[in-house]
Amino acid sequence: MISSSVKFLLNDKLIEIKNPDPNQTLLSYIRTELKKTGTKEGCSEGGCGACTIVLGELVNNKIEYKAINSCISFVPSLNGKQLIIVEDLVSQNGKLHPVQDALVKFHGSQCGFCTPGFVMSLFSMFKNNKSFNNELITDSISGNLCRCTGYRPIIDAAKSLNKINKNDQFSKNKNKVIQQLKKIKPKNVYIKKDDKIYFSPKNIKDLKNIIKKHSNFSFLAGGTDLSLKVTKERKEIPFIIDLKEINELDFIKVSKNDLEIGAATPLIKFEKEIKKYYPDFYSVLKRYGSIQIRNVGTIGGNIATASPIGDSLPILLSLNAEVLIQSFNKRKVLPLNSFFLDYRKTKLKKNEFIYSIKIPLFKKNIFKAFKISKRFDDDISSVCGSFNFEIKNNKITEAYIAYGGMAAVPKRAKACEKNLKNKPLTINTFDQAKNYLEKDLSPIGDMRASKEYRLEIAKNLLMKCFIEINSKKLSRLN
Ligand SMILES: Cc1cc2nc3c(=O)[nH]c(=O)nc-3n(C[C@H](O)[C@H](O)[C@H](O)COP(=O)(O)OP(=O)(O)OC[C@H]3O[C@@H](n4cnc5c(N)ncnc54)[C@H](O)[C@@H]3O)c2cc1C
Ligand code: FES
Ligand code: FES
Repeated sequence: MISSSVKFLLNDKLIEIKNPDPNQTLLSYIRTELKKTGTKEGCSEGGCGACTIVLGELVNNKIEYKAINSCISFVPSLNGKQLIIVEDLVSQNGKLHPVQDALVKFHGSQCGFCTPGFVMSLFSMFKNNKSFNNELITDSISGNLCRCTGYRPIIDAAKSLNKINKNDQFSKNKNKVIQQLKKIKPKNVYIKKDDKIYFSPKNIKDLKNIIKKHSNFSFLAGGTDLSLKVTKERKEIPFIIDLKEINELDFIKVSKNDLEIGAATPLIKFEKEIKKYYPDFYSVLKRYGSIQIRNVGTIGGNIATASPIGDSLPILLSLNAEVLIQSFNKRKVLPLNSFFLDYRKTKLKKNEFIYSIKIPLFKKNIFKAFKISKRFDDDISSVCGSFNFEIKNNKITEAYIAYGGMAAVPKRAKACEKNLKNKPLTINTFDQAKNYLEKDLSPIGDMRASKEYRLEIAKNLLMKCFIEINSKKLSRLN
């Protein structure tokens, strides 16, 4: 069954948009067509949070509330969801939502421009959690920038929510919304508007059928990279194949020796699982963009962009991950190490997609990963270093080291690895090995960091790694 319209709930009102423009952003739709101007435009690239809205999604018969950046999401992604915008938070009798009320009481609304975004991020935190500690609060607003005053009053307002009754108008309306969402039956969506096409298949079989017949399309997953073509480069994406509605691409399988992650698995889901096996991987992901970005951005999208500063890539390289690639008739497995060819170029052919990524579980190894960026939250890495060592009787028996931000592609440091192998775990070993990084890596200088700084940092991260291992401290050495 195919539909050419997008059906969603605007809070609790069913809306159908017939044949929307597949390149129109949610932000533009909300402001220009719904004529609701509470949601603001700041950067148009997912970086400031002024445009934050919340999508209610039905997961196992419950509603999950996801804060997302409406400036980098396209209208068809609304299909089957509940759209909640800042205007919906005031109840029908004009009463402010507890989150809004707290921001007023604690003077958290300063310039007012960023405030609707903060309200929506805190609203999704309020709805998805029972209590709110400092870590959760700062994480929840990590994608919202305040550039006029500061975060203290906003954080105080968020803390005060711990003492508030959690039953709001959305809790009262929940069952009705669940029933309404269930009625919007899942169908493949196919839209042809002017000379633009959008196709959102519900399963891999339909996906294979379409990629067999065409080759001039762009896959869309979270859109946190692709959508910027429209919002920043002012170009059009003529043919989109949306992978996000394919449940078969959103999975995490744990076996004895590895984890397999479906390509369209959102990073936010992945980070919760990977924490159990590689806490440092989790720590880096916690600093990956913001909650808004990780709610939609996928592991497959991060790999396919092949950005030299893609945060998961050096980590996956040092864990010897494999990428499973699917075409309409074949599936093949490649070591990730051979997948990246050149700056943003990979071995993926036109009508192939990433199906999943397999991450080995090195149960006895020591694994460490570090992200260095100018700003702690919501910033792209200057350098990301990842280290995976097998150590037996104080001797390094295996070393897998990889860096991001140090070459045109995320890269293993093979000369350094070779130099460390079969050496004792001493400071001299690491001191010598760090010089081999100059052979392995050829960073450039840009606005994030000079090439000299990058090289120095890469060496220092290796030394930091040794110090942490040697002191047998699992905690981070800051
Ligand atoms: C504000 C902001 C902050 C960011 N911060 C970080 C950060 O801290 N660290 C970091 O690493 N990145 C960051 N990014 C970059 C971005 O989040 C990543 O590149 C992201 O992982 C892309 O995933 P996506 O699912 O959104 O991909 P999309 O944007 O949907 O797609 C990206 C590319 O991959 C292709 N693609 C997607 N899925 C598949 C698939 N399964 N098979 C084949 N091709 C596919 C698409 O066709 C497209 O070319 C940030 C981006 C923004 C906007
Ligand atoms: S306008 Fe800045 S994140 Fe959307
Ligand atoms: S309160 Fe809006 S930028 Fe500071």
